[in-house]
Amino acid sequence: MKLAVIIAVFSCLMAVSLAHVCMFNPAQRTALEGVNAPHADACGLMTGPCGGAKPTDPEVWLMSGQKHTIVFQKNLNHYDAKYPQGGFQISYAEDDSSDFHSLAFIKDTNTSSLTVYTAEITAPTVTHPTPIVIRTEYIVSFGSFKQCANIGLLPVGH
Ligand SMILES: *[C@@H]1O[C@H](CO)[C@@H](O)[C@H](O)[C@H]1NC(C)=O
Repeated sequence: MKLAVIIAVFSCLMAVSLAHVCMFNPAQRTALEGVNAPHADACGLMTGPCGGAKPTDPEVWLMSGQKHTIVFQKNLNHYDAKYPQGGFQISYAEDDSSDFHSLAFIKDTNTSSLTVYTAEITAPTVTHPTPIVIRTEYIVSFGSFKQCANIGLLPVGH
């Protein structure tokens, strides 16, 4: 009986440490290693604002003010029907120490681990070539998993 309780408590603690997200396009700062299987270390980053991953040079340059598709993967499912706020928040900031602004939000549902999602965003408008940070957060009941990509925005007509 006692052992069963200990096992039950331990299983709960294990369950709590799960849920992962990876960013494919633009590619996340750290290598996309092990993403063919759930629970990839590269996708389990929780520290703010960018999972502890260092900024890089812009991965790609996109036209500002236009629609683009962000592609990411729910590497590990942690859907919780009792946490309706759960979901994927896409946002951007000038750099890691600036405020992040929302670009899109997709509510979490009980899709399986490794499900690939797309989010349509309209890139912010800039008047000169501007590097920014795009972040995908998987918001779950116990916190959020974070991936950032460094990109650049080009003014329309550039
Ligand atoms: C999610 O789906 C799986 C597989 O169908 C199922 O076993 C599980 O109970 C579902 N979870 C929730 C929270 O609905």
